[in-house]
Amino acid sequence: MDETSSVAAPLIDAAETLARRLTADQPALLRHLCGVAAHATALAPTVAPDERESLIAAAWLHDIGKVPALRDTGMHSIDGARYLRREGWPPHVCDLVAYHSGSRFVAELRGLTAELCEFDDSDEAVTDALTAADQTTGQNGADVELDERMADMLARHSPDSPSVLVHPVREVYLRAATDRVHARAAGLKVGGS
Ligand SMILES: [Fe+2]
Repeated sequence: MDETSSVAAPLIDAAETLARRLTADQPALLRHLCGVAAHATALAPTVAPDERESLIAAAWLHDIGKVPALRDTGMHSIDGARYLRREGWPPHVCDLVAYHSGSRFVAELRGLTAELCEFDDSDEAVTDALTAADQTTGQNGADVELDERMADMLARHSPDSPSVLVHPVREVYLRAATDRVHARAAGLKVGGS
């Protein structure tokens, strides 16, 4: 979309550089980050202009906590956010990474709510956009539908894993967030902006 070309680039460039460095030996994870960043760029018009740079930067970085060297609590959203905070990244980017894709449900189940609350939840529109971008990108970076993404998650995790155990409640959130993003995008088209 043309509007995204006006998104300020320095933070996004830095995020892409860091993501590529951290995932140098994890090509599948990098492909996923590339795909989510592309989706976030396409969805950027659904968030306020001053949120777009953080949204796309967070998309590049949202799963870096999966890199073994960054492991801390074992919950990747928190570990990635903590790493970025230590490295001096803007708090808003750290916040988005911490809360992406309904992480609060997993944190509650794992007893990590206090650790998650080291970070602040962001405005709904930008959190929704990052979640929708993530949930419509497959593990290898391909475009997928939300149902396919959730089915893949259920197939990859054991029945007693936190991701599977919280799925009934997180699924409701993920569908609602994705629907809100689609509604905002449709509103932009109707409004001609
Ligand atoms: Fe992801």
